[in-house]
Amino acid sequence: MQFDVWTKGLVTLETECIVLGIFDEAELTDEARTVDTAAGGVLAKLVARGDFPGRSGETLLLANISGLKSPRVLLTGLGAQKNFSRKSFRKAIAAAVAALARTRIESAAFAVSRPAAKDLDDYYFGRVIAEVTGSGLYRVNDLKTAKKPKPPALANVLAGPVRANGATAARRGLTHGAAIAAAAKVQRDLGNLPGNVCTPSYLADQARALAKSHSSVKVTVLDEAGIRKEKMGCFLAVTKGSAEPPRFIVIEYKGPKAPKAPVVLVGKGITFDTGGISLKDPPAMDEMKYDMSGSAAVIASLTLAAELRLPLNVVGLIASCENMPGSKAVKPGDIVTSASGQTVEILNTDAEGRLVLCDALHYARRFEPAVIVDIATLTGACVVALGSHHAGCMSNDDALARELVAAGQRADDRCWQLPLTEEYGEQLKSNFADFANIGGREGGAITAAAFLGKFTQGLKWAHLDVAGTAYVGGANKGSTGRPTPLLADFLIHRTSR
Ligand code: BES
Ligand code: MN
Ligand code: ZN
Repeated sequence: MQFDVWTKGLVTLETECIVLGIFDEAELTDEARTVDTAAGGVLAKLVARGDFPGRSGETLLLANISGLKSPRVLLTGLGAQKNFSRKSFRKAIAAAVAALARTRIESAAFAVSRPAAKDLDDYYFGRVIAEVTGSGLYRVNDLKTAKKPKPPALANVLAGPVRANGATAARRGLTHGAAIAAAAKVQRDLGNLPGNVCTPSYLADQARALAKSHSSVKVTVLDEAGIRKEKMGCFLAVTKGSAEPPRFIVIEYKGPKAPKAPVVLVGKGITFDTGGISLKDPPAMDEMKYDMSGSAAVIASLTLAAELRLPLNVVGLIASCENMPGSKAVKPGDIVTSASGQTVEILNTDAEGRLVLCDALHYARRFEPAVIVDIATLTGACVVALGSHHAGCMSNDDALARELVAAGQRADDRCWQLPLTEEYGEQLKSNFADFANIGGREGGAITAAAFLGKFTQGLKWAHLDVAGTAYVGGANKGSTGRPTPLLADFLIHRTSR
């Protein structure tokens, strides 16, 4: 995919299609007027007749428009001008990309002006166009044997109009947007693979491949013996029921001129969650192949950091195994010792994510991190609380939580802070161990976070529960790539302060 900006000369742009933004019930934009004048008034007539009302999400492809170098014009609705924002802009670009992807058009020039949208400067203008184009052209790598329709042909995109003094910022936005889409694709591809392909060893191989292609990245993989050496008793308890070997993956990215203390990202990498002896119900159990989405987001974020050579040190930690029932599986009531030395009574083997994460969080201490963020499809309770619109964000540091919430807003990949106060930790009382791995039905997303909080004392730590946002079920089943855009914005923003 090639991206660049255009600053002037819309009618002479060398492109196969001009994508024009049209507001609902409003005057034509400057660009639309330019096209209309060149084409002898067809556009104004068409809009006046009501053939294209400019509603958000709607498009209309016009072939054989004369007077332009481009043989086609694609209209995309921007909705009401008074409500124009980055959100409606994003929707209009997404609709246009979907329309272009249904054609054999290889090059397009966006001509979408953005009056008075304060959340859409030149940088975000470029970034949204590149990100939405990249993610809109994503096709799942399926294993269907039937012949596939040809993939979208779009390969060259121009974004404008951009004033000459905004071109640098817009180009930077295009570069970042393309990197975010590429990183989200990394997460989506890993998530969409079935559990028999995307195993812990497979994730380790993906991390090693990243190190191979970037000299700034170093990867260390611990096998079961290595995990035992680290005394990760909680992680080992989860993997016990499975014949598939576990992996603990350490990805270290060293950026140029970076502050020493790294950002540590910790990912839940359960490549399949049956629930273990506390077995899940059959309906939709296949979706538990997505239970490694947090770890995929970690690999995706490190890919982005390396691709953009961000001036940061970032460490990715992934605890990966299957959660299976079996004669060797951990049983409800079993008590294990975590790497931190604290003991845990496993009352429900389906609350396995926190068990693999707690040992990974303890491992993070040795890096003396600036901040730690863990990412996990951790609880059904979070889906009940926030649905699929926001991820849950819980933290022992309000400033860090605010930073993540703001990153999610800028990236249009939002999270919402839930209160992580001490009372929730009290729900984890155990009669036999330091604490239990479950805290009852009430506040389930938060008691899970409170469990993790027992292992991050003295560290600046936040937890993102992405159980509701990392994938969609049903007819359009698939990975969404979230929260990779949020994490990307979080990392990028940390470099520009
Ligand atoms: N992977 C699940 C959480 C999940 C549920 C993700 C639904 C996506 C959609 C996690 O391991 C789990 O099973 N959590 C339990 C915890 C409970 C036993 C305390 C849950 O949420 O039911
Ligand atoms: Mn589970
Ligand atoms: Zn799980």
